[in-house]
Amino acid sequence: MPKQYRIGIMGATGAVGSIMLRILEERDFPVAELRPLASVRSAGKLLKFRGEEVKIRELTEDSFKGLDIVLASAGASISKKYVPHAVEAGATVIDNTSAFRMEPGVPLVIPEVNAEDIFKHKGIIANPNCSTIIMLVPLKPLHDVARIQRIVVSTYQAVSGTGSQAITELEDQVKQFVSGEPIKHEVYPYQIAFNVLPHIDTFQDNGYTREEMKMLNETRKMLHDDSIQVSATAIRVPVFTSHSESLQIETEKKLTAQQARELLESAPGVKVVDDPANLKYPMPLDTSGQDLVFAGRIREDISHAHGLALWVAGDQLRKGAATNAVQIAEILIRGK
Ligand code: A2P
Repeated sequence: MPKQYRIGIMGATGAVGSIMLRILEERDFPVAELRPLASVRSAGKLLKFRGEEVKIRELTEDSFKGLDIVLASAGASISKKYVPHAVEAGATVIDNTSAFRMEPGVPLVIPEVNAEDIFKHKGIIANPNCSTIIMLVPLKPLHDVARIQRIVVSTYQAVSGTGSQAITELEDQVKQFVSGEPIKHEVYPYQIAFNVLPHIDTFQDNGYTREEMKMLNETRKMLHDDSIQVSATAIRVPVFTSHSESLQIETEKKLTAQQARELLESAPGVKVVDDPANLKYPMPLDTSGQDLVFAGRIREDISHAHGLALWVAGDQLRKGAATNAVQIAEILIRGK
């Protein structure tokens, strides 16, 4: 009998937390106890896990007694407040928020990129930002062979990345549009339906947003390379699930489009969908509900001798968050 683990989920009712439950089921994670934790609003309600109803508990400082692993996805401020209590209670926390990602001593991990860092943890392992995950899964195999020096990326990010209230806001705005009612917004500063917002997270003094700077800082931390340059523009689009990204990279060693395609065809976590003649390319609708990052439109950049352009898409609630966290847990329990 393999050991069974007692798992807590902070934010179990949320857009990512609810998928964490599904991924634990799908991947048959050895769960002895599942403890869903959320706000007082959800306390006492029931969730289904492996066909059985489990009661949601209110998240408090005392929620973690006896837990082996906590998956945290209730927001950065909630993680800052409660994760230290989970660690103190003896759990290992895989934190999906930005709360601890850049702290020295906290490994930041994508299993396809730097799985070995998992075992350096001191109680907390951080799950990267969803856009960084979708970008680095396909770029790591190219980096290993040709050393990426610079990345220019524009993201096309789904509203579910903001949380369940944003999903409802987009649905409501579409209904309001169709019925000719005034379009209301609360979650975003402007209407998101039939619009595009060049603004994710808060603006910094350098003109970039926090989301854009995460893509630089997290890439450097996971590749253990402070010389790599990343310039990101993060865009919110009226898509429910799956982030897409336009990537331009410059490599030390020249890579042809065909070499890149071959590397990606054998890369873990990647599916090459690159047949423009037959109109086959990655699209968010096709990537939603599964775990691979699709890569296509792979071409040599006509503006740079060592440049390559590609287009990627992946389900940011799954591989960009919940699946990545559960994969980390799987490696953690398997051991080195
Ligand atoms: P609840 O559903 O009870 O509000 P999302 O990312 O989809 O917005 O979800 C956020 C998650 O974080 C939900 O599970 C939500 O629970 C939880 N959450 C939000 N605020 C708190 C809080 N103060 N304490 C505990 N959980 C919280």
